[in-house]
Amino acid sequence: MPLTLGLIGSGAIRTALARLAVAAGLDVVLSNSRGPETLSELVDTLGSHARAATPAEAAQAGDLVVTLPLTALDRLPADALNGKIVLDTGNYYPQRDGQTAELDNDEITSSGLLQRHLPGSSVVKAFNSIGSGQLFALARPARPPDRSALPIAGDSAEAKQETGHLLDLLGYDAVDIGMLADSWPSEPNNPVYVEPYRGVAPEGLEPKEWWVWSLEDPGTPVGAAQVREPVASMERGPSRAGLLPAGLTL
Ligand SMILES: NC(=O)c1ccc[n+]([C@@H]2O[C@H](COP(=O)([O-])OP(=O)(O)OC[C@H]3O[C@@H](n4cnc5c(N)ncnc54)[C@H](OP(=O)(O)O)[C@@H]3O)[C@@H](O)[C@H]2O)c1
Repeated sequence: MPLTLGLIGSGAIRTALARLAVAAGLDVVLSNSRGPETLSELVDTLGSHARAATPAEAAQAGDLVVTLPLTALDRLPADALNGKIVLDTGNYYPQRDGQTAELDNDEITSSGLLQRHLPGSSVVKAFNSIGSGQLFALARPARPPDRSALPIAGDSAEAKQETGHLLDLLGYDAVDIGMLADSWPSEPNNPVYVEPYRGVAPEGLEPKEWWVWSLEDPGTPVGAAQVREPVASMERGPSRAGLLPAGLTL
């Protein structure tokens, strides 16, 4: 039986994941806050392996479930996520997400917060360190030499193994960077976060033009060593909170 990917929220990164998943023959169950009927156009685009449901139904259906970021912790269907592998694509941008003292003080990672909120689930940080356009463009399910790697982190070895299998099906190698407490190198302001996967932008773009360019950018492949080596030598910086360029929202 094919794996099923549950998606709570169907924003840019989860839509890119849905596209890759159906291309790999997985089933996907999408959801959002406004109801399954508002996702019909996206479901039609994705084809017969996709359907829309409520967040709780998407959580129940998924072998692995991709969740909402920090801002929506209280709205997650915790009961339906019990016993599930929960993939956290989230990054902490205080201007967007609101200030969280524990994150500002480096007392916990954003995925650690999610794990604390979902004690019955196995949280794995994944897919947070690459833009949605590059996630789609750099996927290489056929394993050519220029296959890219993505960092993953989590407290359950079994959940990380399943996540690595998912990455492989979608077209990526996984680099295990440790426990959730070790996941900070994959977050904003660190060398394996987003930038290495980007191509070179044309000069002189305004922030909004740059954003449009970044969605179409075919990206630059990043191999496993390019993830593993900087992470191994990284010292924790003063903050993992992302800073948005002026004029941009994510
Ligand atoms: N975008 C990227 O390229 C990218 C890349 C890597 C990591 N990330 C990180 O991934 C996280 C998600 O970003 P994103 O751009 O994919 O999407 P997003 O803009 O955070 O998510 C929007 C989606 O979440 C849904 N949603 C909001 N509240 C909900 C609720 N209570 N129940 C169910 N669905 C709900 C929205 O549905 P409605 O529209 O119906 O409200 C919409 O489908 C962020 O932390 C971001 O930093 C993003």
